[in-house]
Amino acid sequence: MIKTKTTMNYQNIQVTKKDSLAQITINRPKKLNALNKATIQELHTAFDTLETDQSIKVIILTGSGEKAFVAGADISEFAHFTEQEGASLAKVGQEILFDFVENLDTPVIAAVNGFALGGGLELAMACHFRIASENAKMGLPEVSLGVIPGYGGTQRLPQLVGKGKAMEMIMTAAMISAEEAKQLGLVNYVVELEALLPLAEKLAGKIMRNSSVAISAAIVAINAGYKEPITGFKTEIDSFGSCFATADFKEGTTAFLEKRKPNFPGN
Ligand code: COA
Repeated sequence: MIKTKTTMNYQNIQVTKKDSLAQITINRPKKLNALNKATIQELHTAFDTLETDQSIKVIILTGSGEKAFVAGADISEFAHFTEQEGASLAKVGQEILFDFVENLDTPVIAAVNGFALGGGLELAMACHFRIASENAKMGLPEVSLGVIPGYGGTQRLPQLVGKGKAMEMIMTAAMISAEEAKQLGLVNYVVELEALLPLAEKLAGKIMRNSSVAISAAIVAINAGYKEPITGFKTEIDSFGSCFATADFKEGTTAFLEKRKPNFPGN
């Protein structure tokens, strides 16, 4: 971990800085770093603060512990949401964190150190690029809970791995290995866990040697090519919300929290 501590006090994340490099570590290891509302808000504040800090040239995002980057949105927080609350969860999350990160001027590298599932993979995909440790496992398991990805996953996964593989991953809810993720272009490198942050720092060092103004312009230009199908994100929010009105969603989330397999009624 990068050594020098920042002064800001967070409950669910840690932010450290060394020279021009910042590291945000999501820190709820007992819940496999699941994204609850407070964590999403803290991440927004941290990214916003680092973006306005002229001394910071690159941000590394990772998860604490050796098991998870982020195991998804916190299921216990949304299992009882209504359709409107579900749609609002997706909309607010996309605005303050996922779209926000994607459109930062400061490059963000996701160092995926374990499970990146659901909102966890969506967060990694919102970062500008990803590297992973050998133990990492990635997937969008939402349909196993009776819901769909709501933090941009239906849009960014096809952008990164192609439509057919994204369809398969989303429909089967299956996890893929770090090596498979690399073959698909979802992550750029796979290394041993101990080598993950050193690699992120090495890549950050290479980025920092270049013009930060030009890099920001490149981010804007690259992202612009993907902004045309903007209605996809809106459709995702609406469809995500409508899942909350289904019996399948109630069954899927209840089964997870009761630690049993779901028995979907199909409506
Ligand atoms: N939301 C809320 N809590 C979560 C969570 C999530 N997305 N993912 C894990 N947790 C919690 C578990 O409930 C458990 O809490 P507890 O100790 O209080 O019971 C703790 O984190 C550890 O998880 P556990 O399931 O016991 O670990 P495991 O090694 O057996 O399984 C996973 C790991 C990642 C396979 C499993 O936790 C899982 O399937 N998580 C949900 C993934 C998911 O569907 N994400 C998409 C959400 S939209």
